Amino acid sequence: MNGKNYFPQLKCTTSLSEDGIIAVTDDEEFSFTELPSAPEDTLKFLALLDGKTAMVDIIKKKPSAISSEDAVQLIESMAQHGLVLKNIQADFLSGKRAILEIEDVQNKLLHQLLYKNIFWEKCKEPVKVPVNVYIGMAIENYHLLSRGSSFDAHALYFHGSRKARETMNNVFCGENGHCDIILSGLKLLGLEEQSIIRSVPLPETLGLANALAFWSANDSLFFFSTLEVLEGKDSQVDGYVTAMENSGKISTSFVEIIKSHSLINIKDKHASLGRQLFSNIPAIAVADVNRMKRQTHLFIEICDAFYRSVWDYYSQTDNLLRVA
Ligand SMILES: [Fe+2]
Ligand SMILES: [Fe+2]
Repeated sequence: MNGKNYFPQLKCTTSLSEDGIIAVTDDEEFSFTELPSAPEDTLKFLALLDGKTAMVDIIKKKPSAISSEDAVQLIESMAQHGLVLKNIQADFLSGKRAILEIEDVQNKLLHQLLYKNIFWEKCKEPVKVPVNVYIGMAIENYHLLSRGSSFDAHALYFHGSRKARETMNNVFCGENGHCDIILSGLKLLGLEEQSIIRSVPLPETLGLANALAFWSANDSLFFFSTLEVLEGKDSQVDGYVTAMENSGKISTSFVEIIKSHSLINIKDKHASLGRQLFSNIPAIAVADVNRMKRQTHLFIEICDAFYRSVWDYYSQTDNLLRVA
């Protein structure tokens, strides 16, 4: 047991007897004769159990005649008879604190991995990016957004907080139809609507969509934490839109449509969705926060694979719409 979250409290009065100590509760009396040390030392030790001092500190203050093992054993046996309340504190963090800790892990991994991948590296020189990569990113974005309801929908039933549930419902309604914005942009480039709808996403796009659907259904809290990354938390305007704009290689009307989606995210503060959702959750077990921090590694790796695959495929091909 962790001595830091364990604040034992004596629930009886104790006094010396002829051959040991006597413990008295409201309706019972116990006699202890086999003690770990002299009865006086045991009484001094028991007086430390005030319910406010952590076990780890009680061990430091206890009479030296009592070993740490004996001290723990004495508390265990007295607790079994209701003479000591072990007072184990469950470890919780507020939702606000939890999302900040998860964001720390996200930020570290985004800078270590995702922002260094080939897609984002190449976007630093927009003119050198093949035009099909710009179009391909829109196509894969369309595929991801068109599956949005499959991953947003499960989290609508989150029971941990009514306000968080309301926020998630608003997100769901707000995001509905955003794939059509991208679709209308792609049509401006001459791509046929039904061909886009029937085309097959890259495996990595489907992998990201499936992972999000799994988390949304099985771990809504973790799903909430992914939203800020998905909504582009670090940029004023999506870096891909800016690169496309600066490249001068693609029609302005297409760029404007893709940009309009990015601007909705900014206007509706989607980049802080995780914080909005978590701020309405009063307490999250530390074990859950640790689980989410571990899963963040997998999530960022899946995002990294998504962006890399867009570069790898669309920088090498003229076939924009994959068919089954
Ligand atoms: Fe959207
Ligand atoms: Fe959004």
